[in-house]
Amino acid sequence: MNSKNLTPKASLKSIASYIPEKILSNKDFEQFIDTSDEWIVRRTGIKERRIAKDDETNSDLGTKAAIKAIQRAHLTPKDIDAIVVATLSPDYFTMPSTACKIAANLGLTNITAFDISAACSGFIYLLEVSKALVESGAKKNVLIVGSEKASSIMDYTDRSICILFGDGAGAGVVSLDTQNPIIDVHTASNGEFGELLMTKRSPKAKLCEPLAMKMKGNEVFKIAVNTLCNDVIELLNKNNIDSNQIDLFIPHQANLRIIKAVQEKLQLSDEKCVITVEKFGNTSAASIPMAMNEAYEEGRLKKGSLILLDAFGGGFTWGSALLQFGGENFTRF
Ligand code: COA
Repeated sequence: MNSKNLTPKASLKSIASYIPEKILSNKDFEQFIDTSDEWIVRRTGIKERRIAKDDETNSDLGTKAAIKAIQRAHLTPKDIDAIVVATLSPDYFTMPSTACKIAANLGLTNITAFDISAACSGFIYLLEVSKALVESGAKKNVLIVGSEKASSIMDYTDRSICILFGDGAGAGVVSLDTQNPIIDVHTASNGEFGELLMTKRSPKAKLCEPLAMKMKGNEVFKIAVNTLCNDVIELLNKNNIDSNQIDLFIPHQANLRIIKAVQEKLQLSDEKCVITVEKFGNTSAASIPMAMNEAYEEGRLKKGSLILLDAFGGGFTWGSALLQFGGENFTRF
């Protein structure tokens, strides 16, 4: 793959994240639910996750990541003409959107801003939407934010799910450029499986009743592995790319065993795989940009690197994306 002399394409011009300070470790869970560090690590690979402060909202987390992403793209907030946020734990359900809140926090009061609901596949969906917006000419610089305060919709008495999720945010700017192209994105869904992973509210519930995430983890696990393996292979075949050409695999960080299954299917070495699930747990729509930011800050994104992303989440939704990094803009991050 060569990014030189290409006509301008949608490009990810920057990546950034915000990670809340407070750590909730597996040992902490041992104090209030019937679980163990050993069980959680063996089944999920997770050792700890971050939890936002009570007075820190999802849009606060997203705004902090967004400010950094705009700076790293060498832009100012007024250069942004659309903000799209992916989240399953918005500040408010239905309205106002978290994107509107982030826009206001950035001082942007006359701008296209909306949320998308694609659960843990949110960042792949953001890439598809922002790519279409800039390649159609509708928008110039789209701020994309995956932001989660998953702790706000977690039932901390349900050991089957509360040990999996954490809080955090990741953001990037997508613009037309000849560097860092988003080569291809594939997204999909199958609503027939909606009930296996959902925020359920009984029809008789009062409106103020909290929403709590519920999951049939075992069934989700099997479908996630099969779907992701097929999806990434389809994307690589469509683009005539052999898996050994992939320089870095940055998967959604739900469960180490799901990541490893795809890694093995593609025969990728550990050096090519970015894993953050042990530190942050599943941060849903924020997990890929948080992991990508970590790879960037550790110097693992090199000039010309071919990057593969994949994600699976409630809906069911899933998707994968191919990007190339290492143009001049990227090295200036
Ligand atoms: N600590 C200790 N035991 C637990 C537990 C916990 N936190 N959560 C569940 N268990 C118990 C169950 O009660 C069950 O006990 P039983 O056999 O006495 O009934 C046993 O562990 C096995 O439960 P099961 O749900 O079959 O475990 P699992 O091996 O499937 O692991 C998950 C559970 C959630 C870790 C796993 O299914 C998973 O990761 N699924 C995918 C989740 C995911 O990534 N979803 C998001 C997609 S974006």
